[in-house]
Amino acid sequence: MLAHASTFAINGLESRRVVVEIDVRAGLPSFAIVGLPDRPVREARERVRGAILNSGFEFPLKRVTVNLAPAGLAKTGPGFDLAIACTVLVASGQVPVEALRGLAVLGELGLDGEVRAVPGALAVAEGALEAGLKGMVLPHEGAGEAALVEGLEVIGVATLTEVVEVLRGGERPAPARVEPAAPAPEEPDLADVHGHPDVIEAMTVAAAGGHNLLLSGPPGVGKTMLARRLPSILPPLSRSEALEVMRIHSIAGLRAGGGLVSARPFRAPHHTISASGLVGGGSVPIPGEATLAHHGVLFLDELSEFPRPSLEALRQPLEEGRVTIVRGQQTAIFPTRFMLVAATNPCPCGHAPSRRCRCTEADFARHRRRLSGPLLDRIDLLVPIQRPSAEELARSPISASRIERERVLTARERQDRRLAGTGAGCNAQMDTRLLRTHLQLRPEAEVALNEAYRAGNLSARARDRALRVARTIADLAGSDRVGRDHAIAALGHRHDSELVAEAVA
Ligand SMILES: Nc1ncnc2c1ncn2[C@@H]1O[C@H](COP(=O)(O)OP(=O)(O)OP(=O)(O)O)[C@@H](O)[C@H]1O
Ligand SMILES: [Mg+2]
Repeated sequence: MLAHASTFAINGLESRRVVVEIDVRAGLPSFAIVGLPDRPVREARERVRGAILNSGFEFPLKRVTVNLAPAGLAKTGPGFDLAIACTVLVASGQVPVEALRGLAVLGELGLDGEVRAVPGALAVAEGALEAGLKGMVLPHEGAGEAALVEGLEVIGVATLTEVVEVLRGGERPAPARVEPAAPAPEEPDLADVHGHPDVIEAMTVAAAGGHNLLLSGPPGVGKTMLARRLPSILPPLSRSEALEVMRIHSIAGLRAGGGLVSARPFRAPHHTISASGLVGGGSVPIPGEATLAHHGVLFLDELSEFPRPSLEALRQPLEEGRVTIVRGQQTAIFPTRFMLVAATNPCPCGHAPSRRCRCTEADFARHRRRLSGPLLDRIDLLVPIQRPSAEELARSPISASRIERERVLTARERQDRRLAGTGAGCNAQMDTRLLRTHLQLRPEAEVALNEAYRAGNLSARARDRALRVARTIADLAGSDRVGRDHAIAALGHRHDSELVAEAVA
């Protein structure tokens, strides 16, 4: 007897339809799975047999062959268990043959028949809709997420017995509903920070235009503290951004159900991270931190401690907003549009340029070499942080996230209007052509920039970078045109980093 069921394999960030075919014929009892299965898929044999028998159904004492088509696509993970079990039940006449038509089936099985969560429910639901399927059966944990895909009947289940009940046309559980948006986690607020008016202003500029930011200063002045407060002033995710973030995080196994997210991701990997941990990799490519930070913030604390190959690997993601991973026969393209925020001490002891610094020239040189030059060159705002004075620490904080966020939102609205339909989401994403058409530079501003350029403090690329930051500063000031003050403020935020980059190159 032949039977088949539809399920999906995760391939990069997409889901690909997999048809589970089963052939049951007379012969010595056996159970084989073919179609490029990895070890967890092959082990499905034991889970499926156990789940079927322990749920009170029969496992055919015949020659059973399961094929996962297309045979050329690598199948990985335990998500195929439930679909395989369903085909066994159909092929052995325990479930009507038409029951699986139009349904996608996804889930891992326990030996007792429990249906367990698997990563990627949202991507699978999107794939099921695209493939023209009407419904999807999957574990409860993923059902809320899958229900975000409109036009698909999503049935959440907990056990194999429940699945059989549904397939036999018995009582169906109510279709899964979209869960209310997850409440934004309590975020640390800028109101905790005393002093640092310039740093907070630079963070607001960075958030408003999506610019990359480097905080540099001695130990204990609040670099980490400030960087962790950046998400609190970023605009909320749009619906399509949120779906993309959820799809990525679900495939990475970082979430279990829940409604639409609104907070932007904030990823702060430890500096021991490898290049593939940062940008993605593995024999079946999985996304790295750069992709988990897509539409959010990638925070590299203690930048100079990161291994240089890891930092070098970030160049393509930073430049192109995506990274291509090739492993064996598989190629995956992962999106990586994040804001890079980095923090570092200015020298190995951390006290330069004060008199307390005990570093030698050689120490300095080593420290600079450890910061990747090409990476520094992609940072728009270099912000030195000094120790706050005793008075500043005693005074009340100078701002709060609510206030800065309001300014960021207004500046983003201006950018949205100006950049609508161009493909750039914010000023930092403008390419050279967009920069030329959308900058609206006043002649006085141009004079100021040309002066800085002639003085030799700027490379041509750094000049473009300063122009983008100047555009953001003008947006924060509510100005259609970029004036002299905006240009000078932008230069103030970055001429230093150019010098550092030159020293490193
Ligand atoms: N400006 C400040 N306002 C309020 N608290 C501060 C400030 N600066 C530092 N602190 C306090 O000091 C702690 C340490 O700051 P933080 O970890 O951000 O320092 P850092 O600059 O990252 O140091 P390191 O270079 O050692 O990593 C903070 O958690 C906070 O309690
Ligand atoms: Mg720190």
